[in-house]
Amino acid sequence: MTSPAAADLLAKLRVHGAVPRHVAIIMDGNGRWARERMLPRPLGHRGGMKAVREVVEGAIEAGVEVLSLFAFSQENWQRPAGEVSALMSLLEEYIQKEADELDEQGVQVRMLGELDRLTPPALKAVERVMAQTAHNTKMRLNLFISYGSRAELTRAARLIAEDVAAGRLTPGQVDEAAITSRLFTADCPDPDLLIRTSGEQRISNFLLWQVAYTELFISAVLWPDFGRRELYEAILDYQNRDRRFGRVPA
Ligand code: FPP
Repeated sequence: MTSPAAADLLAKLRVHGAVPRHVAIIMDGNGRWARERMLPRPLGHRGGMKAVREVVEGAIEAGVEVLSLFAFSQENWQRPAGEVSALMSLLEEYIQKEADELDEQGVQVRMLGELDRLTPPALKAVERVMAQTAHNTKMRLNLFISYGSRAELTRAARLIAEDVAAGRLTPGQVDEAAITSRLFTADCPDPDLLIRTSGEQRISNFLLWQVAYTELFISAVLWPDFGRRELYEAILDYQNRDRRFGRVPA
């Protein structure tokens, strides 16, 4: 639900400047949120799931075109088995609960990453929601699952090598566009704004190629407490930035 404070911020950012077309978020701090409440870590992730819902709705209302959420990294597979299985179940639950509403809201859901590592039920749920929402155009929601940016770039290099070996591409044709078009995000603009929650100041192997000129916003708020209001504060801050892309001001 939009609080009066969030509604006020939304009204402000609408007149203040351009809304970022693509917002990416590293959702961090679920574990610390749970620890502060003496709860098991999976309950922190459950709190994180609620925040996902709130932020998706907030992004739609603000007019964001693409929202990218880092939900599960390749490194996260090394967490204790109980936590990994809780996260997989939560992913299934999220899809089960939200698929119809996301579809009604016009959201196209895409899951990006090494999906063949998912449990069969999670993979089935992922395929179902992607097929159900494929026709939607209001906002694109990229959920990065089992994702690592170095692995994504390595995969792109391998695909290019295969094309060169097969004679479909010459080495001289390998340019930035050749790499960009072989990334999971090939059909998305680069993120304009990257938000990381919980105060950590790292990129953590997320969209390394794509964030070359992205504006960064570090929020001290732990992800389960992040909502519309915090999203809109980050967008307002972004609107005050002077984006030069390496050039001098006009
Ligand atoms: C980082 O917090 C968060 C994750 C590794 C998982 C993100 C998952 C969710 C937000 C919930 C599930 C989302 C969907 C879409 C189903 P952390 O555990 O690293 O926190 P810590 O650094 O405080 O320990």
